[in-house]
Amino acid sequence: MEYRGYDSYGFCVFNGDKSPFLHKKTGKISDVESELSNLDVPGCAGLAHTRWATTGGVTEENAHPHFDCRKEIFVVHNGIIENYRELKEQLSQEGHKFSSETDTEVIAHLVEKFLENKNEDGQKRSLEEAVAEALKLVKGTYGILVMSKSEPQKIVAARLSSPLLIGVNDDEYIIASDPVAIAPYAKKIVNLDDYEIAVITPDKLSLARERSAEDLEYTSQEVERGDYDHFMLKEIMEEPEAVENAIRGRLMPEVGSVKFGGLENSAEKLRSLDRLLLIGCGTAHYAAMVGEYMLEEYAGIKCETDVGSEFRYRKPIVDDKTGAIFISQSGETADTLACLRELKQKGVTSIGITNAIGSTQSRETSTGIYTRSGPEIAVASTKAFIGQVATMAMLTVYLGRQREMSLVTGSRIVSELDRVPELGRQILAKREEIKKLVEKYKGYRDFWYIGRKYNAPIALEGALKLKEISYLHAEGVPGGELKHGSLALVDKDFPTIAICPSDSVYEKMVSNIHEVKARGGLVIAIATQGNEDIKNIVDDVIYIPKTLEMLTPLLAAIPLHLFAYYMAIALGRDVDRPRNLAKSVTVE
Ligand code: G6P
Repeated sequence: MEYRGYDSYGFCVFNGDKSPFLHKKTGKISDVESELSNLDVPGCAGLAHTRWATTGGVTEENAHPHFDCRKEIFVVHNGIIENYRELKEQLSQEGHKFSSETDTEVIAHLVEKFLENKNEDGQKRSLEEAVAEALKLVKGTYGILVMSKSEPQKIVAARLSSPLLIGVNDDEYIIASDPVAIAPYAKKIVNLDDYEIAVITPDKLSLARERSAEDLEYTSQEVERGDYDHFMLKEIMEEPEAVENAIRGRLMPEVGSVKFGGLENSAEKLRSLDRLLLIGCGTAHYAAMVGEYMLEEYAGIKCETDVGSEFRYRKPIVDDKTGAIFISQSGETADTLACLRELKQKGVTSIGITNAIGSTQSRETSTGIYTRSGPEIAVASTKAFIGQVATMAMLTVYLGRQREMSLVTGSRIVSELDRVPELGRQILAKREEIKKLVEKYKGYRDFWYIGRKYNAPIALEGALKLKEISYLHAEGVPGGELKHGSLALVDKDFPTIAICPSDSVYEKMVSNIHEVKARGGLVIAIATQGNEDIKNIVDDVIYIPKTLEMLTPLLAAIPLHLFAYYMAIALGRDVDRPRNLAKSVTVE
């Protein structure tokens, strides 16, 4: 479960009726890869887990697998058992002894209890029956795998709102919480359904709902680093490709429009919408914000954007003309999914913008678009963000053309979008310049990011990326907001990155830059190629090629991603696996 090292890890291997081999440690699994591969552990079935601590600190005891009183039942779990305190108290009163602070451990003890107690017919329960009974008592979310010493060749798998899939080979099964983990080992997969319990033995996979395995979309090459030092750099270098993949076969410049296979059956419903809610978390939320500017200006639709974790506790005021767009790379983000479920229940038309094929979000939205960015492995999202913004641009044309957008405008946008990959490559070709700039600025500890209109969300994205992977203090703020408080922090030690392409708010950005310069602040500008004047105002300039204003985020994000990457390298950070963060946050 989980495919990457976070703060601790553990595994157990079953070998006949011997006590299973159990190994748990804190730290990163990547640091001990060679040590672990030299271990001689016989057996043909086992469980492994990398943990990102939620309930209980980062300790060896809290690492998975967790076990029952007799160390015979082992469990790995993603998700959160919300009522674990009550269950733990009750089990403790019944005599169960706990050895960790985690919520997960209650599952092992519940299974133990139901294996000991006979069922209503006086029969001993099988492991899967005991798991089913245990899960009836559990509130929360889970992807779990359970094994028992009494049936050492059986793995019981179950999920509820936490991804779990089974890779199917001729002679083995591999179960994981992410397709990326399975890609190098299997070509066929089965996605488990919520509430489904699967039983895996050496010769059989028993599912609650019989179905055949599907092809796994990812190739092993896509999930390897190749010649790059880090996945993040590989993924930034793939940003132009992310646009190419998103637009492939979808642009129709001659009719100034866009076609999406996934929306074909919902065209009439989408035409009737007059308001859109755009929801995502983290970087996906910034893509939603860019989308809001695009949709308002070019499709003439009222939009509202929010982060999933806030929106889920608001009181949404919706009617039958309200639609909701959910943006998520993984399609598994718990907060985004909670909003989807809440709004679906209110009858809102849901549109999913997702990268992960077969993900929970893509299965639960009424209609959707895949961003096709390919697997994104680094925790910080880069190419997936570009894919999301490119998709928002296309969706804007699609919805705009259903409304008042002219053929000429639609055609201009799609033709320019088609050029964006080439323009992006021009920026990437000059990445050494950004690396040099980082050398100059790597001694600073605080950074402002400012931008306006389409690039206000890009300022937030640039700051988030720097925080995530370099652990420096960075704040993004719309340029015009600076003077309403933030400016108080500006001095010679607090540089500002100003995104100021030659667009409708350029002059306004220049005023904001002057405000910073007048307080002794250093400024790095992201400006349009050919703008020589800007050099007289700022300290350093990174040029991006000229494009349509609404598409500038697709270019402006590239140098900001590179800046964050090179800064993290210069500071010796773990770029692909920044501390405290997880790629996909499947818990609230
Ligand atoms: C986590 C990741 C971010 C990502 C966010 C939303 O916080 O670290 O990089 O932007 O989740 O993820 P999603 O899969 O929903 O796009």
